[in-house]
Amino acid sequence: MAKKKSSPKRSSSNKMRVGIDLGTSRSAISASNGAREWVASYVGWPKDFISEKVLGKPVLFGKEALDNRLSVELVRPLEHGVIKEGISRDEEAVQELVGHLLELVGALESQEIYAVVGVPAESLRANKLAIKRAVQDYVDSLMVVSEPFAAAYGRGLLNNAIVIDIGAGTTDFCIMHGAMPTDEDQRTIVTAGDYIDQQLYHMLKDKYPESDFNINMVRNFKEAHSYVGTVKGKIEVEIPVAGRIMLHDITEEMGRACESVLPAIIENTMELIAKFDPEYQEIVRENIVLAGGGSQIRGLAKYIENVLSEDGPTKVSVVDDPVYASADGALALAQDMPEEYWEDLLKE
Ligand SMILES: Nc1ncnc2c1ncn2[C@@H]1O[C@H](COP(=O)(O)OP(=O)(O)O)[C@@H](O)[C@H]1O
Ligand SMILES: [Mg+2]
Repeated sequence: MAKKKSSPKRSSSNKMRVGIDLGTSRSAISASNGAREWVASYVGWPKDFISEKVLGKPVLFGKEALDNRLSVELVRPLEHGVIKEGISRDEEAVQELVGHLLELVGALESQEIYAVVGVPAESLRANKLAIKRAVQDYVDSLMVVSEPFAAAYGRGLLNNAIVIDIGAGTTDFCIMHGAMPTDEDQRTIVTAGDYIDQQLYHMLKDKYPESDFNINMVRNFKEAHSYVGTVKGKIEVEIPVAGRIMLHDITEEMGRACESVLPAIIENTMELIAKFDPEYQEIVRENIVLAGGGSQIRGLAKYIENVLSEDGPTKVSVVDDPVYASADGALALAQDMPEEYWEDLLKE
């Protein structure tokens, strides 16, 4: 979608509200016209005029950008949960990504666009301005919130709850106590999906030094077979050894790699429970929700529940749709939010 800078004042009857989830690995959008789309958070610019001719477009997104990584300058703008400071390429990439997401849901330049954008909690602290700069050219009104808050809002979890969003680069925690969460109510740790991938990669390198695999393959193994606790049967994957495909047993390593993120997640959750008024801690324990791609790890909710149950009755659940939970929540927020909360970008 083209930028809006010079577009004339639009009629307010033609509004579109959108919720956008800008993630390290995946970005998603939910729009008030019912459309929902997601794209892997990669942006690629053709390296030179030859590659531009070959690729036939000035910028590529998602899997297409990744597949053509040899002929594009490839950027994963929120790689560590934040826009890397001072690198305008990352900001530009976020901007392109937002324009692309709006285009995917059929947003028109002539529409007045109200966007709530969810970003990793750390990014909200460090890069709020950069994110606003990146988004503002496409939208008329904007609010930036943390991803776990968006997911919590979407589930109606506004009070006495904890949301744990396990993404690629970061795990974000947000506590809900009946008001808009502040910095105090949120925290971020870097033990998340990418960390599991690295652990698994090294364990498999130790066990199968002759086998030929890379981190992308390891991530695919994880997404197909992740688990914590116990698993029925063996997990076997195909990996080439000296050019021949062989079956490899990775059952034990998979469990250990997935479990490697648990101590930090459990410790932080306990600390956050302890921050609630003692009278409410019992309620909070029964209101713990996992979101993000990492929430798909088999047995995860039960495992965390069992550990935390040692201190009192605990209930841990998983959002129904981890791909769209934050975008849907951001859209719900965009639809409910009173006028005065919006930042009117046209007035500035
Ligand atoms: N079935 C699965 N089991 C374990 N991890 C998964 C599964 N599906 C996705 N993931 C992991 O979830 C992470 C991405 O989650 P996501 O919420 O999209 O992250 P982000 O918000 O950081 O973009 C990646 O590390 C991905 O490998
Ligand atoms: Mg996310």
